Amino acid sequence: MRTVTVGVLGSGTVGQDVLNLIERRQNIFSDVGVKIEVAGVLVRDVNKKRNIPDGIRVTSECDFLQECGVVIETMGGVERPLEILHPYLRSGRPVITANKALLAEKWTELRKYALDGKLYYEASVMAGTPVIGPMSTVLRASTFTRLQAVLNGTCNYILTQMEAGKEYADALAEAQALGYAEDPPTLDVGGYDTAHKLTVLARFCADGDFPYSAVQVTGIENLTLADVQDALKHGEKYKLVAELEKAGTGWKATVAPKRLPETHALCTAGASRNALVYEGEECGTLIFAGGGAGGMITASAMVGDLLDFLLGFPGHVPLH
Ligand code: NDP
Ligand code: HSE
Repeated sequence: MRTVTVGVLGSGTVGQDVLNLIERRQNIFSDVGVKIEVAGVLVRDVNKKRNIPDGIRVTSECDFLQECGVVIETMGGVERPLEILHPYLRSGRPVITANKALLAEKWTELRKYALDGKLYYEASVMAGTPVIGPMSTVLRASTFTRLQAVLNGTCNYILTQMEAGKEYADALAEAQALGYAEDPPTLDVGGYDTAHKLTVLARFCADGDFPYSAVQVTGIENLTLADVQDALKHGEKYKLVAELEKAGTGWKATVAPKRLPETHALCTAGASRNALVYEGEECGTLIFAGGGAGGMITASAMVGDLLDFLLGFPGHVPLH
């Protein structure tokens, strides 16, 4: 049995469940001859009570990274995680992250590590519902034409609650309590989190260097209870929709609220589920749907990435 030392950045909604899942599913590692040892967990407040396995070192210092063979980043933000991860990646070691803001906004710094297969980020889009895996592998054989997706669990939750008559502010507070929302939640309701995710996806099917700044973004903040209820009366639902399609010689990427028939695949996926309709010339229309936010579902993709790394599979390599 070989020991692989893991460092975890962050122990909030996602980080805690990553640690719990590593312990719960130890057998998937022992089956391949690996014992996982968690060297340390980086947090801001070491005194906060956490629901994690006993005996794990929780610290506000990054020194434990020196001894780690792989780092799992669940801290969020952009500048600080890049500052911590950059030297680590430069030393040739791999990183697993769920941080779509970091990927979307710091691609100039991160792209070469992704091309080297050192970045694993299945959880960054649609959490535990696998879309980056297929888009970075088998779907490459088909000519991509268009995608339409609901990629934000917080907005989906808010709009569904508004359909049931709840006020926007109350529904947002509930989504935050459920651990779905970003910090700050304007990233969700302003459409920016969806734009981050669309940018990550676009790099697998449109342009390997697709810039975040190219996405036109409108959020759901101006939708009223009356708007949502009126749509319902007409057999329609509001969804925050990400779209990517050809426009001349380039690509058009938008995020905006749309009123869709309730029979549309993005609506029938279910109230709390993300969905993605992928169209390719040869593969036809594919529909991916499943949970897109929450601790354990996100952890499932990150621990899956860890297993892929241990099995020798490269991380997610964009178009190049
Ligand atoms: P949380 O806010 O719940 O947790 C963040 C954790 O990181 C906390 O433990 C916090 O420490 C720690 N942290 C934050 N900043 C620092 C810092 N500067 N130095 C040290 N520690 C820090 O976030 P989530 O778990 O919800 O999200 C984490 C990441 O996962 C984000 O990138 C998010 O976009 C992504 N993600 C989240 C999903 C979800 O459903 N929540 C789903 C998919 C992706 P402390 O506890 O001491 O405050
Ligand atoms: N805040 C995000 C959402 C978390 O609500 O979808 C998952 O990426």
